[in-house]
Amino acid sequence: MNIRDSEAISALLAAAGHSEAGSLDDADIVLLNTCSVRDSAERKVEGYLWKLRSWKEERKGRILCIVGCMAQSAGGSLLEKFPHLDIVAGTSAISRLPELISNVSPGSGRFSDTDEGPLPYDDISTHVSSGGVSAFIPVTRGCSMNCSYCIVPQVRGGEKSRPAEEIIEEARSLVDRGVVEIFLLGQNVAAYGLDRTAGKNESSPFAALLAKIAEIKAVKRIRFTSPHPASFNDALINAVCEIRKVCDSIHLPLQSGSDRILTAMGRRYSSSEYMEIVAKLKAGRPGISFSTDVIVGFPGETDDDFNDTRRILNDVGFDQEFIFKYSKRKNTPAAEMDGQIPLKTKEERNKILLDDLKTRILARNRSMIGSEMEILIDADSPRSNNRLIGKSSSNKTVVVEKKAGIAVGSFATAVIEDATLAALYGRLK
Ligand code: 5AD
Ligand code: SF4
Repeated sequence: MNIRDSEAISALLAAAGHSEAGSLDDADIVLLNTCSVRDSAERKVEGYLWKLRSWKEERKGRILCIVGCMAQSAGGSLLEKFPHLDIVAGTSAISRLPELISNVSPGSGRFSDTDEGPLPYDDISTHVSSGGVSAFIPVTRGCSMNCSYCIVPQVRGGEKSRPAEEIIEEARSLVDRGVVEIFLLGQNVAAYGLDRTAGKNESSPFAALLAKIAEIKAVKRIRFTSPHPASFNDALINAVCEIRKVCDSIHLPLQSGSDRILTAMGRRYSSSEYMEIVAKLKAGRPGISFSTDVIVGFPGETDDDFNDTRRILNDVGFDQEFIFKYSKRKNTPAAEMDGQIPLKTKEERNKILLDDLKTRILARNRSMIGSEMEILIDADSPRSNNRLIGKSSSNKTVVVEKKAGIAVGSFATAVIEDATLAALYGRLK
């Protein structure tokens, strides 16, 4: 989501007459787009802000600006803490950035804008043409799930969906520019279109949106992230199983495999309900792969709770896991809970899961040697002039030798000849 926000910021500033600087030395304006999901992300930004003090002092008139979630949550206090900072622009202020920047004149104006505002994506022209084969489209903003550990609803507000026509229009304009893979984004995409509907839903406006996007002929692949398991109803399961353009790779955040911890997290599903979704998808879409987010060291997590998580991760057999050490976020219920876990325990649990994951992925990647895979070539290899990089529908990175007629944007069949933890290596057929 932050990458997509950065794209929107670039496009807005370009439209206002700014251009991208080749280096920090050349830059007149520096914008830091920030995340505040975990404390470590905020510490990094603070360190970087201090480093930029000398950059700011080197030339008069330079403008330093912080944007996004951390700007939203800390607001004007950042101007007090960092005297060389000019603009604090919250998550809704993105569309006002050109105006804010033009209002800063040396020594006269420093601003904090964390007001609510229109969606920063209202204008589809805010899409920079990166020339890539894959593009992000935000479908919702904010989140209404209120997980007890999470700061997102505070900094991005409740979930708001974009109108379907606008999303489809954006997809059409992207394919006109050569995009073949559409990546739909939202904190809980599975609840797309349900902002104004109360109660449990049998229908899925998100499933309908997937079907509409799949109707666009030039769209070849559709991916999305993240769907909340509590919103992943049968209508959406059926859509994923039936719409062939939806890729064989689903990101389904688990967070914990312990029902006790899931309840404390306010996740609104049990481990068996989670496994039911996985089983239905595996049955309806053989070959599907899964990735997930998991938090270790949530307050009160015992060894038994952790082992429940470990067991589910191995039972599902995830191809990718984003493992996070629980991080206290201000004004969230979990920050006040008893049983906060020492960092050392979080690190030990993190390492156990990472080791499990590495062993599993290496074995799985090696088992693919000899098989054939359809890949979408999405880049030239940064390491070798003779190689291309592609992605399988199941989201595996496949490195291949170049071949006449095959270039970025082509679909091709690769015969897998070697495998490491990070990638598969193949020959084009
Ligand atoms: N501590 C650790 N991880 C968190 N996440 C969200 N909030 C926290 C927190 N306070 C993780 C969740 C989420 C991912 C984007 O970040 O796993 O799915
Ligand atoms: Fe945060 Fe995701 Fe929960 Fe929303 S669904 S509150 S973004 S963890």
